[in-house]
Amino acid sequence: MPPSRQNGRRTARLVVLVSGSGTNLQALIDATSDPTTGPDYGAEIVAVGADRDDIEGLGRAERAGIPTFVVKTSEFDDRVDWDVALADSVASHEPDLVVLAGFMKLVGPAFLGLFGGRTINTHPALLPSFPGTSAPRDALEYGVKVTGATLFVVDDGVDTGPIIAQVPVPVLDDDDVETLHERIKVSERAMLVEWVGRLVREAVDHQPHPEEPS
Ligand code: GRF
Repeated sequence: MPPSRQNGRRTARLVVLVSGSGTNLQALIDATSDPTTGPDYGAEIVAVGADRDDIEGLGRAERAGIPTFVVKTSEFDDRVDWDVALADSVASHEPDLVVLAGFMKLVGPAFLGLFGGRTINTHPALLPSFPGTSAPRDALEYGVKVTGATLFVVDDGVDTGPIIAQVPVPVLDDDDVETLHERIKVSERAMLVEWVGRLVREAVDHQPHPEEPS
């Protein structure tokens, strides 16, 4: 498949995986589809995948006209088969970069065999503090005064991969888990949009198009 081009620039193909409300996905949809700045962003979302039906993240993709797919663990005998099926579904969209945006499953060896090194995840804490699925609650219960969000390259651990970017967010005295997580997500979305754009533009700038002289 020839790479698509906008404004003469090769456009990276993103597949985004979600499990929930999809506000991080929406930030990427907005960045890639903005009529003024979208053509220079350097990426297009070619598909959105999920591990469950009936989530707002899929609705956001559908309303934006982006193809969707769902690969549920319950439809497979074990996580190994699910991981292979997820990897196959993602591969069918030929992504340059895979973005886990609130995707609440660990990808496995088959997935990382195809997409290791080009799958990134966003996490609502300053890793390596508070990995796992309850980071805002854990930060609040610990009593830290600053937490934040981390963008990292996915490896075979739980929130352990190389860190790409981080953003700090203060914990306020009257925060509960919801207010803290919502404030983190505002900064998290901005970080995600900024760094996905930077990553794809840097990668594209270093890769001559096959039809162009190097
Ligand atoms: C984000 O804070 C993400 O880091 C965490 O879950 C949240 C997903 O939010 N894993 P949304 O679905 O993008 O609104």
